[in-house]
Amino acid sequence: MTGTARIAVLTSGGDAPGMNAAVRSVVRTAMANGAEAVAIRHGYEGLLDNDFVPMTLGSVGGILDRGGTFIGTSRSERMFTEEGLDHSAAVLAEQGVTGLIVIGGDGTYRAAEELHRRGVKVIGVPGTIDNDINATDTTIGFDTAQNTICDATSKVRDTASSHERTFIIEVMGRSCGMLALYAGLAAGADCILVPEVPWRIEDICASVSQGIARGKKHSIIVVSEGAAHAFGLAEDLTKACGHQVRAVVLGHIQRGGSPSAFDRTLASRMGAAAVEALLDGESGKAVCLQNADMALEELAKCYSHHHEMKRHIYDLAMVLAR
Ligand code: F6P
Repeated sequence: MTGTARIAVLTSGGDAPGMNAAVRSVVRTAMANGAEAVAIRHGYEGLLDNDFVPMTLGSVGGILDRGGTFIGTSRSERMFTEEGLDHSAAVLAEQGVTGLIVIGGDGTYRAAEELHRRGVKVIGVPGTIDNDINATDTTIGFDTAQNTICDATSKVRDTASSHERTFIIEVMGRSCGMLALYAGLAAGADCILVPEVPWRIEDICASVSQGIARGKKHSIIVVSEGAAHAFGLAEDLTKACGHQVRAVVLGHIQRGGSPSAFDRTLASRMGAAAVEALLDGESGKAVCLQNADMALEELAKCYSHHHEMKRHIYDLAMVLAR
């Protein structure tokens, strides 16, 4: 790049704990390298509406430990039109932006790829609790969301044991079962339902009954929202097992809260790696965590299919749940 680089950053799609840490890292790394930093508010909607805010070192003070995203986010339908994409590229050129960093999930990456095709220099950073982005070992927010689910599951287990009940806990993840699988394993769930693995009500019922027969005082079933809905499943299981089954939907609680140390560190490393990639002239790529190191992969590779669920982790969870 010639002249002063002007790096813009936005967060897009569902917020994830650690997004603030990533923005902080982008701003401070850019400034440490003599570049200007600017934030775009409310994700792609703010880009379309020219909502730019200049950043200083102080603008990103006090946000490292805060959940959500202080620059705002959105799910932008306008960004998935030719007109919206052309307009966004024009806005970035008018604003003198030499490089754009987008922090979000697969929808965010798809739009970024379109901007790249229109000549915008852009790098993606994976920010989503779903951990559904291909080519990266994990995403910003996944660790914190797992901890939130574990904490909630422990609380549900207290009441489940007291009443000797079966509970279904529905967790997020869209069509990807990573969050349910890893949180279910960490929380010691008795059964985990994910979209990637077919399941039958009879098998769940048999596993609950076996647990009761060996003296278990509770059964916790963690279900990914992409596999089944908790309330419908509770009704079906109640009929199939012959005892009352309760349901809990954790919902957006999973997206909030202070990011874990892991997510803060990951976000800090990824934000810096994204700035370095832009300054090195890279574009159309996303930062990934691969075997504990930062790597760059083509954006298209990251969103073309979901992060593949490791079957042996699922099998392990099932063995330990017995
Ligand atoms: O992608 C993150 C996520 O939290 C998914 O797990 C969930 O399906 C979705 O966003 C919910 O989106 P919204 O907040 O728009 O309802």
